[in-house]
Amino acid sequence: MAAEHQDADTSLVSERVSRRIDVATPPSHAAHLARELECGNILFFPRMPFHLNAEDRAFLLDQKQTQAGFHKNIAYRPAQNRLTGTGQMPAHDAARLKAILAAYSNWATAFLAEILPEYSARWVRDFASYRPIEEKGRAARLTARNDLAHVDAFPTRPTHGDRILRVFVNINPAHDRVWITSETFEGLAERFARQVGIPKAPSGSQVFGKMARALGIRQWSRSPYDAFMLRFHDFLKQNAEFQRDCTKHQWEFPPGSCWICYTDMVSHAVLSGRFALEQTFLISRHAMALPEKSPIRILERICGHPLAN
Ligand SMILES: [Fe+2]
Repeated sequence: MAAEHQDADTSLVSERVSRRIDVATPPSHAAHLARELECGNILFFPRMPFHLNAEDRAFLLDQKQTQAGFHKNIAYRPAQNRLTGTGQMPAHDAARLKAILAAYSNWATAFLAEILPEYSARWVRDFASYRPIEEKGRAARLTARNDLAHVDAFPTRPTHGDRILRVFVNINPAHDRVWITSETFEGLAERFARQVGIPKAPSGSQVFGKMARALGIRQWSRSPYDAFMLRFHDFLKQNAEFQRDCTKHQWEFPPGSCWICYTDMVSHAVLSGRFALEQTFLISRHAMALPEKSPIRILERICGHPLAN
């Protein structure tokens, strides 16, 4: 395996490149895991703790998502118990797929609560997805390509500085899912933030946002931070020089493995693989063990002013 093997007790340093932290199942050192993630490292579980029975696995491996349209993935929205991106799939198949993704979403939530108790109840369970298409050579417009290094930002779900944490499992019975990672957001922002454009502080009209947050209301409008992160995502993918010359570490996630990382911190690209499950969590920025490592705080240091209410 080309990935670097690191001991889970490795002391914490300011990481500029992600490391893989191998974790036994069940983990015996949960207290350290949040810090490892927040530094930009990847938690790796060699044996997938999610149980998928043989019939459901066979059903998932039989799915062929249409290449047409704009959906990159089949997505399950837990809050609405709704499935999207299934194209012309027969209703009984869509119902079965929804049930499997709901089970995965529930499992990922319970698993995360167990291994990262400090985050528990301070997250929004975002979408789960199923990725049945081979990533290698997949046709997509440039800014939608998965095989170009980037950090994640969601056009439809602004986070206002909250974090994007994703739980992946490779259900492919025979092939690895292959990633590369490059520098973490910290180094990338120092190099490129000015080129992308320093965002302004939130305007007076965004005072409502502060009130909404205080009342626990989810905000749909973008903060200056969200607008920057979207521009940054596109900037990295469009930057041919960066894509060619950036530091690249290759990771091969074998069949049956699980990995977790902050994809707003870890710059990543998927080179090959098909048949992966994924669940996204938006973790409160106020739940961080190392708040100074949050992209919003890194960016605010560079800008010299707040970027979200
Ligand atoms: Fe991504």
